[in-house]
Amino acid sequence: MNEVKGLYKVRDISLADEGKKRIAWAESRMPVLMALKEKYSASKPFKGYKIAGCLHVTKETAVLVKTFAACGAQVSWSGCNPLSTQDSVAAALASEDISIFAWHGMSVKEFYWAIDETIKMKPNLTLDDGADLIFTLHKKYPELAESTIIGGTEETTTGVHRLRAMADDGALKYPVIAVNDAETKWDFDNVYGTGQSTLDGILRATSVLLAGKNIVVAGFGHCGKGVAMRAKGLGANVIVTEVKPTAALKATLEGFRVMTMDEAAKVGDIFVTATGVKDIVVDRHFEKLKDGAIVCNTGHYDCELNLDHLKNITKKVQEIRPNNEEYLLKDGRRIYVLAQGRLVNLAAAEGHPSEVMDMSFANQFMSQLKLAELYRKGKKLDNKVHDIPAEQDQEIARVKLKTMGIKIDKLTPEQVKYQTDYSSGT
Ligand code: ADE
Repeated sequence: MNEVKGLYKVRDISLADEGKKRIAWAESRMPVLMALKEKYSASKPFKGYKIAGCLHVTKETAVLVKTFAACGAQVSWSGCNPLSTQDSVAAALASEDISIFAWHGMSVKEFYWAIDETIKMKPNLTLDDGADLIFTLHKKYPELAESTIIGGTEETTTGVHRLRAMADDGALKYPVIAVNDAETKWDFDNVYGTGQSTLDGILRATSVLLAGKNIVVAGFGHCGKGVAMRAKGLGANVIVTEVKPTAALKATLEGFRVMTMDEAAKVGDIFVTATGVKDIVVDRHFEKLKDGAIVCNTGHYDCELNLDHLKNITKKVQEIRPNNEEYLLKDGRRIYVLAQGRLVNLAAAEGHPSEVMDMSFANQFMSQLKLAELYRKGKKLDNKVHDIPAEQDQEIARVKLKTMGIKIDKLTPEQVKYQTDYSSGT
């Protein structure tokens, strides 16, 4: 086997001790994943498997990576966003013989270089957040995608959408499990995780008062809903923009004002894009923004705010504090762009709290395990995007509740019978 343990490129290896403390903090709040580590570290079900991952290098991700390694996998990792790597965490992983190629502030060229480095180990399994690793494999290393890789997992909504499109076109060369679509992922990580971490990022970058501000949330999917709920809780007047009628209706009935971005642009104090679609705030909106407006994005890619359009009407850009750039416009207005339009929750803060990543990453672990175990039995899923089984969701929720000391009721056999009894009515 092609041993690749220990290769790395990180910002500063001397940060390893700080990173280890952060990882230990996350471990103490990720009991579901830690229980899986305990359960499988003796039998080492990943022995002989090589996992390449492309997912934000955070303290929570480090807990996942270390769990795979403890369960026998060889792991090689890169970040899935140039601004989301926590350098101390990357250093800690490197110091523990994990191959890792990630540092905060890498260029786009370096980002793809890092993915190439992880592929050099010739992985059998891939783990993505945003599908950049899978796309790179399909474009540049089709023979690996076709013959060496037995399957992959995808963490995020945007990635799952694109992979489903690839599968529909018959272009997907190996099966992918949609971790994002697990209930114990999207209904917690996307909603409560994004809600809290996005506001955390905005506050770290600006330290403004949110109460009384008009906060415009573009997109009322799970992530947008989380941001809107938490902003409301802090006293903001939340405005939602949407393209989907049912989502717009839900936002209205939640008590949020719904309007077009053209209208919202005139009144918003803070704008947060959470759509997964490009060009949400473009030139005609920037023309209308109030002096002092703050704009940021919490969607996976940095295409939701069209910063080229903003630059066209800008005289001068200066960083006024970390992750906060002032665009002085030719007409004298000032617009503040957070985290260069990249994921504000990961670039300006630390991403979602460990407690929700616990469930997301337990899903990642179990999905990778399923791919490995199927292969061991000589089986393979179709080259499609696959859902997580409902039992996995319930099992993860059950363990999570147990670690929180919460007990729930159980249906009696009579109640179970009643549920499926179609012979009796009123
Ligand atoms: N995505 C959002 N928050 C995250 C975190 N804390 N770690 C890894 N990926 C994330």
